[in-house]
Amino acid sequence: MTTVVPVALADRSYDVVVGDGARHELARVVGESVPSARRAVVVTQEGIGVEVDPGLPFEVVTVPDGESAKSLPQLEGLCRRFARSGLSRADVVVAVGGGVVTDLAGFAAASFHRGTAYVNVATSLLAQVDAAIGGKTGVNIPEGKNLVGSFWQPAAVLCDTATLATLPPREWASGRGEVAKYALLGIDTDLGGAPTADLPIGEQVARCAAIKAAVVAADEREGDRRMLLNYGHTLAHALEAASFDDDDADLRHGEAVAVGLVFAALLARRLGRIDDARVAHHRRVVGAFDLATDLPVGHEPGDLLAFMGRDKKAHGDLTFVLDGPSGVEVVRGIDPADVVATLADMESNRGSAS
Ligand code: GLY
Repeated sequence: MTTVVPVALADRSYDVVVGDGARHELARVVGESVPSARRAVVVTQEGIGVEVDPGLPFEVVTVPDGESAKSLPQLEGLCRRFARSGLSRADVVVAVGGGVVTDLAGFAAASFHRGTAYVNVATSLLAQVDAAIGGKTGVNIPEGKNLVGSFWQPAAVLCDTATLATLPPREWASGRGEVAKYALLGIDTDLGGAPTADLPIGEQVARCAAIKAAVVAADEREGDRRMLLNYGHTLAHALEAASFDDDDADLRHGEAVAVGLVFAALLARRLGRIDDARVAHHRRVVGAFDLATDLPVGHEPGDLLAFMGRDKKAHGDLTFVLDGPSGVEVVRGIDPADVVATLADMESNRGSAS
């Protein structure tokens, strides 16, 4: 059984189809959402191993494994393959994989013929609950992640929970970090409230997709409300950047988000925005998704602060998404001393729950 989550964006509206076997809806979905398409190029990545049938003549292009596939040379290579396969602007690109594939193929589709339709078949938990939905596409350059890209909405998204069966444990953990984020945002949708760890995975994914759809529909280009989706991410991005090239400290994205969510709660308490019970709630929710919440060892608070100041959403000051009396919201102009003190508290309380 599948659940359909609409993303309401006027003439760019589309459906996210969630459920066991959802990828088998691809031919129907392509026929309905891109009726002009006469051929397709399926973009996937080494090791994904998920076969799809777009219901049209198609060719498969496989990009290399890993985040390094999100590069300008790979973008050029993809567009050249699109051209050689005779893809026109009326045709369709199908991205099959995790966030690396949906970001890269989505940006190639956005660029090819100045905008070609694409459909995401998301195969990782992280992509199903976040990356494949909402139209953020792009690639990395040496100066930073996702610095070159565009907002280009897919024509449809298929989240086949059957493809999660072969996901490595760390990739599961990474996806659960994002699910925990949705669980703490306090946003209700037609599908109910927050996702909880005891729900079947299809229901968790559908609830997350519905929350993401509601936020994107309200603020497609991240003027303000969409920034809520970065709850826990400011510290997470700093931890990821600080651990870059250090294989012993390689936190997956969602694992870093889990630590960042608890940090955000502790910072909000320091600023008098929430009380101890609310911090304990954050720890309970993140713990229920079986994620560690301690600050990893070996990070200087001052170094992490420097990385946070470079966050591309910072607009020249320290900006965090923080819980408070009116719920989770964007808070600008945070005093660096409060950030350093919160990190120092996490350092000295490693292993305890204060
Ligand atoms: N991943 C955050 C967003 O799509 O806005």
